[in-house]
Parts: sequence; C-alpha cells; structure tokens
Amino acid sequence: MFNFFSKREKENFSFLKTDIHSHTIFGLDDGAKDAEHSLKLISSMASAGFTSLVTTPHVHSDFYPNTRDGILTQYNKVKKILEDHSINIKYRTAAEYMINDGFMQLLEDKEDFLTVYKNYVLVEMSYLAESPFLHDALFQLQARGYRPILAHPERYNFYHEDYDQFRQLKEKGCLLQLNTIAITGYYGSHVKKTAMKLLEDGLYDYCGSDMHHSRHFEALKSILSSGKLLRLLKAYPFRNKEIEDFL
Ligand SMILES: [Fe+2]
Repeated sequence: MFNFFSKREKENFSFLKTDIHSHTIFGLDDGAKDAEHSLKLISSMASAGFTSLVTTPHVHSDFYPNTRDGILTQYNKVKKILEDHSINIKYRTAAEYMINDGFMQLLEDKEDFLTVYKNYVLVEMSYLAESPFLHDALFQLQARGYRPILAHPERYNFYHEDYDQFRQLKEKGCLLQLNTIAITGYYGSHVKKTAMKLLEDGLYDYCGSDMHHSRHFEALKSILSSGKLLRLLKAYPFRNKEIEDFL
C-alpha cells in the first residue's frame, strides 16, 4: 500500500515534455495579469514535470492586436524573470493566431509568423461559427511552407453534430491540438465527449494546457490523480515529445 501511494505522488507530465499552448506572458491578453502571475504559472508547469513551455499569446485583431515585436518585447521581460528566479524550464514564445480578416491581412503582408517550433503555427477560430476564412487561411499558410495546428477543435460546438469536419481538416493538412483539460469535463460534457472521440479516432496530433490562470492549472493537475485519464494521455502518441530538440 505504501508503494502505491508514493508512486501516485510522483506522477507528473514529464512524459509529454513540452506544453505548446498557454497564455503566460503578462500584459498581452487575457492570460497572466502581471509579472508575478507569469512567474507563478510558469513555475507551476515546471513543478508539474514539463521541461519546455511554448507560450502562445493571442493575436486577435479585434481584441488583442498584438504584433510580433510587441510579443517578443514582453517575452524577453518574462524570460529575464525566469532567469532571475532560476526556474528550470525551456521557455519560448509563439502565438495563437485568430483566423479572421486581420489574419488574412497578415498573410497578405507576408508576416513572419511566430512558430511553436520549426514551421508549425497555432491557429484558432471563434467558438460561435466556423470562420469564413478558415479554408483559405489553411491553404495560404501551407503554400507559404507553414504547418497549421488548430487549437482546441473539441471546443468548436458547431462541429459536434458534424464530426466529419474534423477528418476533412486533417485531410487538408491541418493538425489538431487537444486542450488537455477538456478530458476532465472542464469545458462541459459535450466538449469532453468530442475530445474523447477524437482521441479514440486518433485525430489529435498535440495536446496543450491553454492555461490562462491558476484554475486551469488546477484542472490540469487533477489529471495526475485520475488514474484513468492519466493512462489515456500516456498511451496516446502525442507529438509533443518531438518538439523539445527544436527549441
Ligand atoms: Fe489559447
């Protein structure tokens, strides 16, 4: 019995190595509120076993009109804080690009996109309806040599009754990223059900915390004490493991 408990206490996310989706740079979006909060969120991820963190501030022309330079400036401030506090984690910034008219403008302007690693770019859509620009954006990104990763497909309710859309996205070269806490039911039972089916069908490529605040981290941590959910994640061939060498 003693051994059983000590093994459970040691569970962590080191099997994933890299988290690819979070909002830990203060002053840019609806994630970390200030420098202290950035430090707290990032050190929590390090203590949970992640060895690399690719953080992804929103680039959303309507609500968070962040630019490449603006993101890099804030990123360097957070990186300095991590060094000052000797936080042992590889830390990189990419972005989570909202596919809207502003994103199409960036494509037209030949934007040098911030990548998760290599040529992989994280994109998202509104939760209300499929973006009218989605397919054009996926095509143009790939034509420019980028590989799109669509964030949290399970959260797009408009696809729940039209499951084949997920397969079509994959066929069009779009990779899919699970919001890890979706499997806890954090976003509701329909989102969880869709996430479970996408896992079962092997349609996900990556997972990510999409951590904005401590409540997200607590939900993520709860997976470590749920034998069933943890086994599910450990058994799935997420490509997160391949990223670290390129950071
Ligand atoms: Fe996000």
